Amino acid sequence: MIHIIGSSGHAHVLRASLRARGHQNIIFVHSDDVRGLSKDARLVMGIGLNPARQEVADALVLDGWTNWMTAVDPTAVVREVLMVGAGAQVLTGAILHPGSSVGEFTLVNTRAVVEHDAIVGRHAFVGPGAVLCGGSAVHGRAFVGTNATVIPGVTVGEGAVVGAGAVVTKDVPPGATVVGVPARRVK
Ligand SMILES: CC(C)(COP(=O)(O)OP(=O)(O)OC[C@H]1O[C@@H](n2cnc3c(N)ncnc32)[C@H](O)[C@@H]1OP(=O)(O)O)[C@@H](O)C(=O)NCCC(=O)NCCS
Repeated sequence: MIHIIGSSGHAHVLRASLRARGHQNIIFVHSDDVRGLSKDARLVMGIGLNPARQEVADALVLDGWTNWMTAVDPTAVVREVLMVGAGAQVLTGAILHPGSSVGEFTLVNTRAVVEHDAIVGRHAFVGPGAVLCGGSAVHGRAFVGTNATVIPGVTVGEGAVVGAGAVVTKDVPPGATVVGVPARRVK
């Protein structure tokens, strides 16, 4: 039995992905109700958006729920990567190339590309169609919006936000928000 935490749009995308992998025994569970499950229940995070996804997962890990599923869609391409962490999700058509690394609970969305040697930290969110070029880094809890591009070797700091469609040409400080082409800081 796989328990998807949440029942929103993202949870449905995830369920479809798991079914495409051949899993049939899947139920949605509210985050408050996980505490009624045994500690070895098989879990996957169906909450799409930061920071709720991060907070719920951290609280459950702290309280002893450790059986997190790594969900890789059958259409994703994952080749010679360093790591795909426990609880991470790699959705439809996403590509992870050699030497890349995806942290625990990180969400690599539909058709996103994590190029060679790019590092994506724990709890990060990589939006649909986003491209993280070779040797770039997206630190923990950062959010990269739909169709954004992070050019080679550039770093997006811890908890930073990159707006949809942005082209990030310089390092983004932790917690900052950048938008546009080239990306400029707005917060
Ligand atoms: C970057 C983002 C998070 C900013 O949201 P916010 O903090 O609520 O900021 P605001 O909407 O107040 O926008 C601040 C300014 O940036 C501009 N802006 C916001 N997002 C922008 C974007 N993606 N590209 C260019 N400009 C953008 C706004 O027009 C506004 O400019 P103004 O002050 O001149 O009016 C949001 O707009 C965004 O792009 N989210 C990505 C959504 C996404 O891809 N989700 C994935 C779903 S699967």
